[in-house]
Amino acid sequence: MREFIFYSGSAVTSGKMIGNDLMVAGRMDIVCNFIINSFFVSHNSRDDVRLHLIFNGTPDHPKYIEIAPHKIAIPSANNIDVAAKDVAGVLKKVLDGYVKDKRIEVLPNFFVEKKGLREVIEKVGIERVVLLDKKGEGIRDIEGLDNVVFLIGDQDGFPKYEEKWLKKAGIRRVSLGKKMYLAVQTLVILQNELDVREARD
Ligand SMILES: C[S@@+](CC[C@H](N)C(=O)[O-])C[C@H]1O[C@@H](n2cnc3c(N)ncnc32)[C@H](O)[C@@H]1O
Repeated sequence: MREFIFYSGSAVTSGKMIGNDLMVAGRMDIVCNFIINSFFVSHNSRDDVRLHLIFNGTPDHPKYIEIAPHKIAIPSANNIDVAAKDVAGVLKKVLDGYVKDKRIEVLPNFFVEKKGLREVIEKVGIERVVLLDKKGEGIRDIEGLDNVVFLIGDQDGFPKYEEKWLKKAGIRRVSLGKKMYLAVQTLVILQNELDVREARD
């Protein structure tokens, strides 16, 4: 199974704020592309992914959406067109389904509740979390990467106070190389690295 945490410091935390322009919804376009690249490859889906999304934008942060691994029905192998706006429609419903002090399964395999970055890291197990960081250990120098949860920051990385906490918590840092990639590029490179490892083992 693959497990990712994506932290978005800007993604809006109410479905009512998701309209046609996903960029103004705190870069919800990036979140949607992150989801697409978590769960889809060309003409197929990845059924072995668990995705944790943390939104820290206005008006009611933080919000935590967990997407559990599930079989995604593909209507026709030749007709897959996953558009960011469709994914945004799903996120809108999930955020709108939030109920205070509860964890709600708004849609099958889509859960929402109020949790921030630290709580989610503690929930998955701090010792399992690996932060994707340009300055970390080179991923190709690391043999096993089983049972880990990969943490990726958004266009702004992490706020200073969270960076400080991540450092203090001693979270392992893994690098994909010296270039600074976009969050979605980081995910795609990582997925490929894990695919290559899986095919080899
Ligand atoms: C666009 S980058 C963040 C840029 C932000 N200005 C900063 O300095 O952190 C988005 C995320 O991609 C990941 N990332 C980018 N380049 C990487 C690299 N070479 N190796 C590992 N992770 C990387 C990090 O998790 C980062 O938080």
